[in-house]
Amino acid sequence: MPRVLVTRRLPEGGLDPFVAAGYEIVQRDGDEPWPAADLCAAAAEVDAVVCVLTDRIDADVLRAGAPRLKVVANVAVGYDNVDVATASELGIAVCNTPGVLDETTADLAFLLLLAAARRTSDAEADLRQGRWTGFHIGDFLGVDVHGATLGVVGYGRIGQAVARRASGFGMEVLHHSRHDTGVPGWVADLDELLPRVDFVSLHVPLYDETRGLLDARRLALMKPSAVVVNTARGPVVDEEALAVALEDGTIFGAGLDVYEREPHVHPRLLAAPHAVLLPHIGSATEATRRRMAQLAAEGAVAVVRGERPPNLVVA
Ligand code: DGY
Repeated sequence: MPRVLVTRRLPEGGLDPFVAAGYEIVQRDGDEPWPAADLCAAAAEVDAVVCVLTDRIDADVLRAGAPRLKVVANVAVGYDNVDVATASELGIAVCNTPGVLDETTADLAFLLLLAAARRTSDAEADLRQGRWTGFHIGDFLGVDVHGATLGVVGYGRIGQAVARRASGFGMEVLHHSRHDTGVPGWVADLDELLPRVDFVSLHVPLYDETRGLLDARRLALMKPSAVVVNTARGPVVDEEALAVALEDGTIFGAGLDVYEREPHVHPRLLAAPHAVLLPHIGSATEATRRRMAQLAAEGAVAVVRGERPPNLVVA
């Protein structure tokens, strides 16, 4: 009987593909991260590992898992927590969850865009803390979303889903990606896009080239009324530079769901004006998280059967 190690509690129904395929499921009580040594020991005794983005599946875990371990299935579309190159050297497949979280994540990106533009976190906090003294014409003035220009950076499925939402708000949409998309609004050079837009929404995966993509120099290219939204990966933005840009008015606002060193949030960012900060909940709806878990599980079952699943990550 194949065995699968599932590192965390997953939404109900998420492990159905393993149950249907008759797997023995190895899981611990509780939902704490596995210490690295325990993860290595457990990986050696299973055919598949199902993990989440906070599990570091590095070369040590993969080497410990080989030769029995056949597949690592990450319950996330991003897989920067998995050493895909070493996995591929060892013949261990990696699966992720593309496609099933696009609309849910785009909803949240748009929520952050609206909330940062209209300063809703600050305004609600004021009300809840009893500081609201009534309507004041100059309170919590934000920037308009309708009719503004959005720059989508990374024009994959989620970026395109955000662009669709923007057109409903009468926004003009520009986008930047490494390769020409052939879609109107493509801007080859990110440095040229930034001064032209009122909002930037980031949708690039994290890899060496995108680490620190939005740094102090690039933030300085943006309009003082601009808003940055990040639902991709924290290290794509230089957090300290972003906090400084908000403090000194280089840009207007930011809506963030992801951080450089989660769950640590840069203290300057916590104190920065016009920042809406959420705890990595982009894909957090019951239906989407369940589907993500099932897709990861389906991929793992297919690999162990010797099949090539559609959600295989290619190194
Ligand atoms: C992902 O899938 O990569 C998100 O960050 C979590 O849903």
